[in-house]
Amino acid sequence: HAQDSPLCQKSALKDPSSDLPEMPPCDFIPDKYKGMSKERMMQIRKQNCNPMTMKVTSYKTPAFIHQGHMQWLWDVDGKRYLDLFAGVATVSVGHCHPRVTEAAVDQLKRLWHTTNIYAYPPIHEYTEKLASHLPDPLKVIYLTNSGSEANDLAMLMARLHTGNYDIITFRGSYHGGSPQTMGLTSNSAYKYPIANGLGCTNTMCPDVFRGPWGGSHCRDSPVQTIRDCGCAQGHCMANDQYIGQLKETFATSVPSRIAAFFAEPIQGVGGAVQYPKNYLKEAYKLVRERGGVCIADEVQTGFGRTGGHFWGFQSHDVLPDIVTMAKGIGNGFPMGAVVTTAEIAASFGKGVHFNTFGGNPVACAVGSSVLDVIKEDGTQENSLHVGTYLMTELAKLRDKYEIIGDVRGKGLMIGVEMVKDKASRDPLPPDAMNEIFEDVKDMGVLIGKGGVYGQTFRIKPPMCITMDDANFFIAVFNKSIHDFMERR
Ligand SMILES: Cc1ncc(COP(=O)(O)O)c(C=O)c1O
Ligand SMILES: *[C@@H]1O[C@H](CO)[C@@H](O)[C@H](O)[C@H]1NC(C)=O
Repeated sequence: HAQDSPLCQKSALKDPSSDLPEMPPCDFIPDKYKGMSKERMMQIRKQNCNPMTMKVTSYKTPAFIHQGHMQWLWDVDGKRYLDLFAGVATVSVGHCHPRVTEAAVDQLKRLWHTTNIYAYPPIHEYTEKLASHLPDPLKVIYLTNSGSEANDLAMLMARLHTGNYDIITFRGSYHGGSPQTMGLTSNSAYKYPIANGLGCTNTMCPDVFRGPWGGSHCRDSPVQTIRDCGCAQGHCMANDQYIGQLKETFATSVPSRIAAFFAEPIQGVGGAVQYPKNYLKEAYKLVRERGGVCIADEVQTGFGRTGGHFWGFQSHDVLPDIVTMAKGIGNGFPMGAVVTTAEIAASFGKGVHFNTFGGNPVACAVGSSVLDVIKEDGTQENSLHVGTYLMTELAKLRDKYEIIGDVRGKGLMIGVEMVKDKASRDPLPPDAMNEIFEDVKDMGVLIGKGGVYGQTFRIKPPMCITMDDANFFIAVFNKSIHDFMERR
């Protein structure tokens, strides 16, 4: 099993005695790894990398990733993985996508850095192109280096523009880890016992699977929940109930005038949670009646991931006042953006806001190339096509296994919520989740975990995965759940 042999990079020739699903072939040959040992990396990781690094490390036996190409990753031993998590929904068009890499290299050779105190072509080319992807009047762009930074800026803008202070988010949401965005984030795992979240209030997440209300027609997904539905056609009682909860929040927890309502079109870290179809539309109206602006956090759902649309908010038939984005915007290059209206942008003109690296030439060249590639490669269409198929097949596994409670999402923004049993919908405990998670990795597929109780598997791959990759994952996931049930 020589690791530099090209044969080994193809799917390992099928061993007839093995019942392991066979990975689709790949003819890309990674470099042979010659760096430090895994043991040495772990030593340094424990000594010199901050303790959070170990805390967030996935797997009992961590993955030591050496190289990537499109949907594939190779570890230091030359083992190949199908990446269905994309470094947390970030690698949008494929690891080291050749055209994006070329754009970055060209720019690196020409000009690495200068800032907004001068005019340089890439930022103008890029902001015009990005603006062309958004509906009127969302045409003014601030470039940042991360999603937290983008959300911080959006909070500030909303407060300055409205003259109000209070901001509402959903329970279970993640909007960043900076001191300000920690207040938006409504998951205790990411909160610290310091004064945080002044002016931030959360409201019940309209989760039609786990929440108190929900049926079999509520959400905009190829797969509905297993819950019964007694609603008359075209009328969603769950939506009424959840909107009622939002009204209670308005009546009890915030002043009569608010600054903003922040929501992801589909909750990301929360576990691909989807809301009833008309929820955001009604919520936006209520928020605007109270003087607030509506902010769509598209950090995970943007750039074609949800398949049917370029932005997640479009499938809710709403028009936000501010849109924040990061992750997929740069295919892994650190960048983010806030897009808003000229009017809101004007309210931000009272002081000077300066960001040294935001919109640097290399980021702009990368971002611009990512937008081109999404178009040229048909990335959004692929997301819809492969994602819909994947969810339909996963729903068959849900019908077969008692511990798969829900399958949901849109395009390649997919959640598989695991339960103790379908009747209780109680979360599958962490030990069991970890067992399946590790097993799926050992069979060659990287997926993610999320949800308030860590109960949901998350599938958010580079959007270049194929139908063969989807079938391979289904076989792997099926086997890991089957084997898990046998062991119990
Ligand atoms: C929806 C959402 N918003 C904001 C953020 C924060 O982005 P960053 O980690 O780039 O600061 C994240 C990160 O996971 C996210 O998922
Ligand atoms: C799931 O696994 C079981 C047990 O190995 C097998 O009988 C079945 O055909 C598999 N189904 C799919 C869809 O792979």
